[in-house]
Amino acid sequence: MTTTIRIGIIGAGMAGQAHAFGYRNAMMAGDLGDVDVQLHTIADPNLGLAQSVAKRYGFANAVADIDAFLANPEIDAVSVALPNHLHAQILPKVIASGKHLFAEKPIGRTREEAAWLAGLAEASSAVTGVGFSFRRLPGLAALAQAVQGGAIGQVHTVRAWYNADYAADPAGALSWRYSQELSGGGALLDIGAHAIDAAQFVVGPVTRVLNSTLRTVITERPKPAAGAIGHGAATTEERGPVTNDDVALLTVEFDGGAVGQITLSRISSGIPNSLGVEAFGSEGHALFDSISAGEFHLFQNGVATSATNGPRRIFTGPEHPYFNDVAAMPGAGVGTGYAEAFVAEIQEFLRCVRDGSPMDTDFNTAVKMMRVVGAALDSAASNAVIDINTHQQA
Ligand SMILES: NC(=O)c1ccc[n+]([C@@H]2O[C@H](COP(=O)([O-])OP(=O)(O)OC[C@H]3O[C@@H](n4cnc5c(N)ncnc54)[C@H](O)[C@@H]3O)[C@@H](O)[C@H]2O)c1
Repeated sequence: MTTTIRIGIIGAGMAGQAHAFGYRNAMMAGDLGDVDVQLHTIADPNLGLAQSVAKRYGFANAVADIDAFLANPEIDAVSVALPNHLHAQILPKVIASGKHLFAEKPIGRTREEAAWLAGLAEASSAVTGVGFSFRRLPGLAALAQAVQGGAIGQVHTVRAWYNADYAADPAGALSWRYSQELSGGGALLDIGAHAIDAAQFVVGPVTRVLNSTLRTVITERPKPAAGAIGHGAATTEERGPVTNDDVALLTVEFDGGAVGQITLSRISSGIPNSLGVEAFGSEGHALFDSISAGEFHLFQNGVATSATNGPRRIFTGPEHPYFNDVAAMPGAGVGTGYAEAFVAEIQEFLRCVRDGSPMDTDFNTAVKMMRVVGAALDSAASNAVIDINTHQQA
């Protein structure tokens, strides 16, 4: 029996286009042969952009009116890729529509907004997934499996990071990302969402933020021209203040006692886009860096004599999660990158819609990440240790 899933995307900016790419290529997965994915509508108040994205990615329609889009019974499943301040406005409407929902991280701007939205998602019988896309990179997923499976013993020390350079140029436009009010956090949330989630994915839940330092290095920027999206937007003569962090340095403690440092920067000149996790344990260590997304590293005590033992560089291939469903050629070493991670996450979403099963990255995954972000903001303001669960000084 074939399951037809008619897709709509709300938000045609940088992430919305990545989702469109994911849906367009989702049918690469052999086990989705019984799903008929129909690329139905792109919705964005910027109609010209919606039309351009619909044409380029093969969607049949483009609309500006999001409420009319949600009232359309022809659309079964919806991706939402809007600026963070619109999550609390639009996600409840999507949930109320009964359509299946795949929402971009971070789910609102604060842990309170995220918890409220998670409650709405919990009460829905539709699939409500969240796009923690880095988890779908075969190397990071394999590393998490190895660490969770005990390959490096009891983890005691963790290093996680997300270094990006999209904000390194002071002439870059003051988009919604640079407003604490509109975004909920600078590097701490925009890219920190991924690094914090990746650290918890590999090691387990963070229980306390021991210390947090936030810095705004570039304090004002030119305002964007109308219709700007993504990082490379055109600017105007007018300038405005940056009200969130360019750099965030966190020291955290994990369930089980491991300590870790999470370094986040959107002004890392020369490092365009690198998310990494390194974990040291009683039996070895494990490392993944998305800048070399086709590989990960594992060191295990005693697998060779000390003269020849060292970290092994493992190239991802058909043995690793997601690889077979997204790689253009089915052999280890051909590598997959961040584009394929969007295909893999959309494939997971479609499987859940077909099977009526919950998604592994859902609103509760987002809440767990947002609690760390909330504690980091509190810790930076109070200079105190913050307990993740109570939100209190600990
Ligand atoms: N998973 C990832 O790697 C990843 C990457 C980028 C962004 N994101 C997430 O996706 C979401 C969207 O980010 P983006 O980079 O695509 O943003 P963007 O600025 O590139 O695009 C936002 C889109 O929303 C539309 N929009 C609708 N109403 C708007 C309004 N009132 N104000 C401004 N824009 C409005 C804009 O027209 C634009 O097309 C964010 O929540 C972000 O955290 C995730």
